Amino acid sequence: MPSMIVAGGQWGDEGKGKIVAYLAVHDKPKIIARSGVGPNAGHTVYFNGKKYGLRQVPCGFVYEGAKLLIGPGVLVNPEVLFAEVDVTGTKGRLWIDPYCTIIEPHHINQDKTSEFLREKIGTTGTGCGPANASRVERTAKLAKDFPKLAPFLADVPKEVNDALKRGELVLVEGSQGFGLSLYHGSYPHVTSKDTSASTLAADVGLGPTNVDDVMLIFKAYVSRVGEGPFPTEIPQEKAEEMGIVEFGTVTGRRRRIGTFDFDLARRAAMINGATQLTITCLDRLFKGAAGAKQLGQLPADAREFIKKIEREVGVPVTIVSTGSGEDDIVDMRAEKLGKR
Ligand code: IMP
Ligand code: MG
Repeated sequence: MPSMIVAGGQWGDEGKGKIVAYLAVHDKPKIIARSGVGPNAGHTVYFNGKKYGLRQVPCGFVYEGAKLLIGPGVLVNPEVLFAEVDVTGTKGRLWIDPYCTIIEPHHINQDKTSEFLREKIGTTGTGCGPANASRVERTAKLAKDFPKLAPFLADVPKEVNDALKRGELVLVEGSQGFGLSLYHGSYPHVTSKDTSASTLAADVGLGPTNVDDVMLIFKAYVSRVGEGPFPTEIPQEKAEEMGIVEFGTVTGRRRRIGTFDFDLARRAAMINGATQLTITCLDRLFKGAAGAKQLGQLPADAREFIKKIEREVGVPVTIVSTGSGEDDIVDMRAEKLGKR
């Protein structure tokens, strides 16, 4: 019955990892299915005092009652996958679809050596674009073509839809962000696939009429790695004054920083069909918000900022993140939406 898609509303790195981990532990979904492009993503999650930078395994792994799935729309790099299954200890409860495209060394090589991809687009160099191109050209190898992957294979769309039929909660973990969409983003400075909720659903075999909720994640400010337009970008020195300095999880590159972009947020909410919004890193913009667990603990200017987002975007802000700790969360879903 209920399904929720978690999608990024900016240029990736909105803090989806932490939010998915929170939703997993709090809502206890039976299925957590990873959608999105592939290992170009780096989702950060802290669990039991340890930091994980995950590129393939869903961040929802922190809830041990969930079956973890990677949908056929997602690219898989077997080496990255095996390493992460190891560190997360998820062997036996993680499954990938036989139709996942496999990233091969020649894809990575092409991504890293193409002057256009490397210099002009500033890709992550993880082979994702060239692997998606191979899939489109119908020459890609799939997960089912590799004996080493045989123990991990499962029919992901069937798992997802059977769970929904049983009335179980399914959480779909997207990657990247709206501005990086191949169709809706700042082309050509985008990733190699659409990143909106419709495609995130298709990636795991979830039909549009079976999507109940789209949780769109925004950071309280904006960051972008790689090239491309960034209307609200601020100079590095100004970002430093604000105490905001960030580096990419996958590439280690310094992220460009900007202020919240209301136009981008409105359009992202429209095209994603957002039903709820999460605002992350609120504490980095409003120092007094650090560690707040309830709306009443937020300083007045932070509360006003949230109200402004709701007014301008027209979708309720139901979750706010106020720090990197697992419980630095204000969850207003019960008050704002009624108990569900
Ligand atoms: P690619 O996805 O590696 O082809 O890179 C294309 C563009 O998307 C580059 O600007 C990357 O920095 C950006 N990108 C891809 N995945 C992510 C992500 O997970 N977070 C932030 N930026 C990303
Ligand atoms: Mg990231």
